[in-house]
Amino acid sequence: MSLDSHPLRLIHVSDIHFWRYALNPLQLFSKRLLGMASLVVRRARKFRLERVEEVVERVLSLNPDHILITGDLTTTALPAEFRAALRELGPWLQEPEKTTIIPGNHDRYTMGAHRDRRFEQYFGEFAPAPTYPWLRFLDADTAILGLDPTRPGLTAQGRLPEGQLELTRELIAGPGRTIRRLIVACHYPVEVPPPYRQDLVSKNLINAESLSRWLATIGPHLYCCGHVHATWAFVPDRIPDQLCLNPGAPLLRDRTGLRPPGFLEILMMEHDVIVNHHAWMSEGWEIFPLYRAGSFFPATSGFAS
Ligand SMILES: [Fe+2]
Ligand SMILES: [Fe+2]
Repeated sequence: MSLDSHPLRLIHVSDIHFWRYALNPLQLFSKRLLGMASLVVRRARKFRLERVEEVVERVLSLNPDHILITGDLTTTALPAEFRAALRELGPWLQEPEKTTIIPGNHDRYTMGAHRDRRFEQYFGEFAPAPTYPWLRFLDADTAILGLDPTRPGLTAQGRLPEGQLELTRELIAGPGRTIRRLIVACHYPVEVPPPYRQDLVSKNLINAESLSRWLATIGPHLYCCGHVHATWAFVPDRIPDQLCLNPGAPLLRDRTGLRPPGFLEILMMEHDVIVNHHAWMSEGWEIFPLYRAGSFFPATSGFAS
């Protein structure tokens, strides 16, 4: 595909949060399982699974070149939730080379899910490598960098292992690198717009600071995240070459009217980026232009490092 002739259309989705009532009532004597059950009940009120088919169709109608899902496919990482995700998202998963999926903290929710690499068992084929970090090229000069700061256990806080950051630095600064358009995919944001800072108080990335410092050195890039169920496209003061994107949660029951559910359509021309939010409003789908920048990406390969 020549980028001169038509834009690369990337669809960015996050935080679908499939949920299932799949617990044996006898197990509820366990305090931990009781906690999981109450989480599922809360999520069941919050996420409208009956809308997923409409979201799947809307994305396909845009004829995307690639679909990127940045985690939290599930609620408690139960096999039944992963199976539901595989089944319901099936139309997006026909060609594994055209869909990339990274885990969110809810996809590692239990020790068992983490130990068994349950996310990878179900969705491993939608990543180019079994361990992080990795790079996946979408065309000759566009690549997704996959990061995984998720941890097992009931905490919603993440931490990017020091070794993973070290490998990432090597991967991106490696000799002969020709990534002109870099898309960092990571479930956790490192910087959020001021109205959403409160959302991160108990579920932040613990070592966001060191990742943030490194990101500020790598030149223009998109940072595709999720985790906070709100939509944004903003350039952080501390990482002025970054366009940070969060699509929000596509099935969210938005009681406030401030967080309409949907996904992002990212169009990349030669140097330019356009981001549209496809949002489900009371009357149906609407498109809100979120960001438009000419000459965002450099003309020639190579980032400062
Ligand atoms: Fe989430
Ligand atoms: Fe999350």
